Amino acid sequence: MPRASTEQGVRVDVLRNEADGRPALYEATFRSLHAEVKGLPAVWLYDERGSRMYEQITRLPEYYLTRREDEILRARSAEIAKRTQARTLVELGAGTAKNTRLLLDALDTAGTLERFVPLDVSEQTLRASAQAIAAAYPRVFVHAIVGDFERDLDALPPPGRRLIAFLGGTIGNLYPGQRGRFLTTLATVLARDDAFLVGIDLVKDVARLEAAYNDSQGVTEVFVRNALTALNRELGATFDQRRFVYEARWDPEHEWMDIALRTRQAHTVSIRAFELDVAFEECEPLRVEISSKFRREQFELEAAQAGLRVESWWTDRAGDFAGALVLRDASTGS
Ligand SMILES: C[S@@+](CC[C@H](N)C(=O)[O-])C[C@H]1O[C@@H](n2cnc3c(N)ncnc32)[C@H](O)[C@@H]1O
Repeated sequence: MPRASTEQGVRVDVLRNEADGRPALYEATFRSLHAEVKGLPAVWLYDERGSRMYEQITRLPEYYLTRREDEILRARSAEIAKRTQARTLVELGAGTAKNTRLLLDALDTAGTLERFVPLDVSEQTLRASAQAIAAAYPRVFVHAIVGDFERDLDALPPPGRRLIAFLGGTIGNLYPGQRGRFLTTLATVLARDDAFLVGIDLVKDVARLEAAYNDSQGVTEVFVRNALTALNRELGATFDQRRFVYEARWDPEHEWMDIALRTRQAHTVSIRAFELDVAFEECEPLRVEISSKFRREQFELEAAQAGLRVESWWTDRAGDFAGALVLRDASTGS
């Protein structure tokens, strides 16, 4: 059962608590560990410590994504506010909702905004950012949702002049099949006067892409390794960090950054919660995350296949990152 509470003007709905959220994550984890290339759902990266580390990543000199998106939002937020006239701003995977403030400012100035709805799996980070936004925007009602954007889009406030933002390039963390399902579900919940704003990292020079995930201070490596710490803590797993090497490299076939921990030698890891022993070979990767990079035509095609239409496409001056304003495709008639 969802749990709801209201503190200091912020309503928080918890859809994904220990009782009803974890089994699905555990099942996905079990499946990922049995895949052809062993992997982990990226959600494991974002416990409280991981969310704090991600915040540090966004400030690294090599990690251009957040700054490029910030540039686009600074240039376009007023136009987005004017076009959408949004009464509700939803943010999927909101985290600290840093770049979102540019949208909040523009919608607040336009005078249309009534409600901000950040949704994230990471409860502590979400509560903190919801409180901070409520304090900074006293006219806006903040309704935070602890949930999963792959499964909980039907729990959003009812349609009608909603702007649903999905920032930070997070869409690139979904595998193509997941992404297709996500966009298709989104098309079913999007009303005629709703809009979707998505931040998209673009295909570019490989050296720059690889540098963004292999920063000189090693912050990204610590962030990725934290997923093993979370598994050890929560599932009683026996991952030994010393037996894995961090590796983030460009996969030209899939056009994604492949972010993995590769074994130094063959060994077995036990996962008590699953009563499972996972055997790793020498040099075997455990994929922790992908970050897909996009080309405009491909994204437009995927959107169209899901029943969506890219209405506007904006990039930063360097052409590194894009913001796409997406609407339900009226020609699909539904
Ligand atoms: C790459 S970070 C982006 C954070 C923020 N939007 C930004 O641009 O800085 C991804 C965020 O999505 C959240 N997240 C990851 N998977 C999720 C899921 N399935 N459902 C809801 N939130 C998720 C993480 O907790 C994290 O806050």
